[in-house]
Amino acid sequence: MEPIRRNSVPKASTLPDFVLRQFDQHSPQNDHRQLYSILQGGIRQSVLAAGTKLPPTRVLAQALGIARNTVVHVYEQLALEGYVQAGVGRGTYVAAIGPRLVDRSAAQPPSAGARTALLSRRGSQLVRDSKAAPLQWGAFTPGVPEVRMFPSQVWSRLQARMLRQHTPDQLTYATGPGDAGLRQAVSEYLQGTRGVVCSPEQVVITSGTQQSLHLVAQLLSDVGDTAWLEDPGYWGARSVFRAHGLQLEPVAVDAEGMAPTPEQLRQPPRLMFVSPSHQYPVGALMGHGRRQQLLDYAAVHSVWVVEDDYDSEFRYGTRPLPALQGLDAHGRVVYLGTFSKTLFPALRIAYLVLPPDLVDGFARALNELFREGQTLQQAVLARFLAEGHYASHIRRMRGVYSTRHDALIQAIQQEFGSQLPVIGGDAGLHLVLGLPPQVDDAAVAQAALRAGVTTRPLSLYYLRQPAPTKGLLLGYGAVREEEIGPSFAKLAQVVRGFL
Ligand SMILES: Cc1ncc(COP(=O)(O)O)c(C=O)c1O
Repeated sequence: MEPIRRNSVPKASTLPDFVLRQFDQHSPQNDHRQLYSILQGGIRQSVLAAGTKLPPTRVLAQALGIARNTVVHVYEQLALEGYVQAGVGRGTYVAAIGPRLVDRSAAQPPSAGARTALLSRRGSQLVRDSKAAPLQWGAFTPGVPEVRMFPSQVWSRLQARMLRQHTPDQLTYATGPGDAGLRQAVSEYLQGTRGVVCSPEQVVITSGTQQSLHLVAQLLSDVGDTAWLEDPGYWGARSVFRAHGLQLEPVAVDAEGMAPTPEQLRQPPRLMFVSPSHQYPVGALMGHGRRQQLLDYAAVHSVWVVEDDYDSEFRYGTRPLPALQGLDAHGRVVYLGTFSKTLFPALRIAYLVLPPDLVDGFARALNELFREGQTLQQAVLARFLAEGHYASHIRRMRGVYSTRHDALIQAIQQEFGSQLPVIGGDAGLHLVLGLPPQVDDAAVAQAALRAGVTTRPLSLYYLRQPAPTKGLLLGYGAVREEEIGPSFAKLAQVVRGFL
């Protein structure tokens, strides 16, 4: 390997000139910063070669008209960083940096157009297929709860108390599976409301379902394994599994959720991702029979069933079916829950309920990969649950969402009568407005955005393309009742242009 060639070397006597030419007494930079970067730049670019003697600090200070101390400090800093060497009474010399490993001229900065080429194959695929919405607020952004009604006064009271009483382990790196009080409160809540069968020890706290999915992929699958995904389904799970090198197998969704074909059943996957209590995004409710079939299949073929129970707190009229996890007699279900929909997404607190044998591995991986924190917030949330604030907030929000849900259904009927179907409209925070198959729902969503209304096209949730069903996801959780009619009227005008 050829060492790089050095440029012309100024003699010791010419060094003040080299600095003087560049030093600007009117520069907004302070003297220290300016002198340091001139000398450091000269050394790095080999204009000041190894062995060059720097002028005495007094001489240089005088030549530049700056304080001698400034020059002394700059020399000291350069010495500390290895650019110069100084010996008492011997003067200060440019140090030898050593030959470079490659010819710098070969390293060209990438052109702006070639930026994606910087990413790895899987990185480019992740970016190319990314579905995360640029807007997370406003009518009718799906997946967002009414964060303006979050009881922040109660929360800040609990938080202030927690801050006064905290222990050192709540402020250092988190270890283990999360705050013990929160794990206890979550397990009690899930047993009481969701029919989940678990002890507090089976609960691992994460910073969101997204993170739970990363752990699932990392710990329960290997690159090249197959994952069954509901199609249409949650794109967030799709992106995480793909990023971990899993082969994605889209499984069609019928009126009861995931419905594998006989051919698919002949090739068991490593894991399946399901939302049986409120299929995302079309709202199907998986009945008891289908649940049992999937669990039996999982037990026989050692398949992990990843159950995403993201919003079952909110059903209007019907009671939710208990979680699939509660029926699992063989320890094959990993249950995922989140506080993003019941409280607010930026809280970033969620949980996994795991078969007992998996807990230790997940907790270790959580600490190893993510160095999870939020310990103090977890403790606040634990009190929030234990003191009953969580249950009352959910009760209150159920009423609010039910009213908004009815208002949206009414607006749809007013604008379209029965011309367009409403899909999955009896639970959660969104519904799907069906569109005829020939309509380009992505184009409708774009036109709606230009008109000031946010929606997401149903086709975006399909792995299979072209998407077999078209529609628009409309979130009503974060839209005030009085805004729903006028916003939907705007949307209806856009939609009519495509019918
Ligand atoms: C189907 C589904 N699962 C889970 C989540 C929650 O994810 P997180 O806990 O990372 O906010 C969402 C959020 O949009 C979702 O749509």
